[in-house]
Amino acid sequence: MRKLTINGQVHEVDMPDDMPLLWVLRDVLGLTGTKYGCGIAQCGACTVHLGGIAVRSCQTTMDMIEDMPIVTIEGVSNTPIGAKVQAAWLDKEVVQCGYCQSGQIMSATALLTENPKPTDTDIDDAMAGNICRCGTYVRIREAIHSVNV
Ligand code: FES
Ligand code: FES
Repeated sequence: MRKLTINGQVHEVDMPDDMPLLWVLRDVLGLTGTKYGCGIAQCGACTVHLGGIAVRSCQTTMDMIEDMPIVTIEGVSNTPIGAKVQAAWLDKEVVQCGYCQSGQIMSATALLTENPKPTDTDIDDAMAGNICRCGTYVRIREAIHSVNV
């Protein structure tokens, strides 16, 4: 048995070392807010925080987690910056189809936690791995700038 701390709750799971975290979140624990896009670390839809760092859960296997806490889109509003990012997303009406947006919010929250006043270049660099096929990039940037950390 392996203990995973997700959004402050401990879950016991019996999964092989090479099982991707995304599979465990969605298929075992029912935390379906984190999305499957590409499965090869190219789209960012599956982004979660592991030990406070934004990671691609499709490429994060059970043996990489150790004792680090995990935060998903279901729990990010419990962090002060995550709550502000979600409020900014609503205020700027960022979302179109929504599929990529869990990952966008997780990456934006990680960026603002590390860098409270990012420049356009900082935002572009930090968010480059999060693809939005609806093209919401301009509103994403506007929303990030609007967050008062
Ligand atoms: S599903 Fe993980 S990066 Fe695309
Ligand atoms: S809002 Fe549709 S893919 Fe980003």
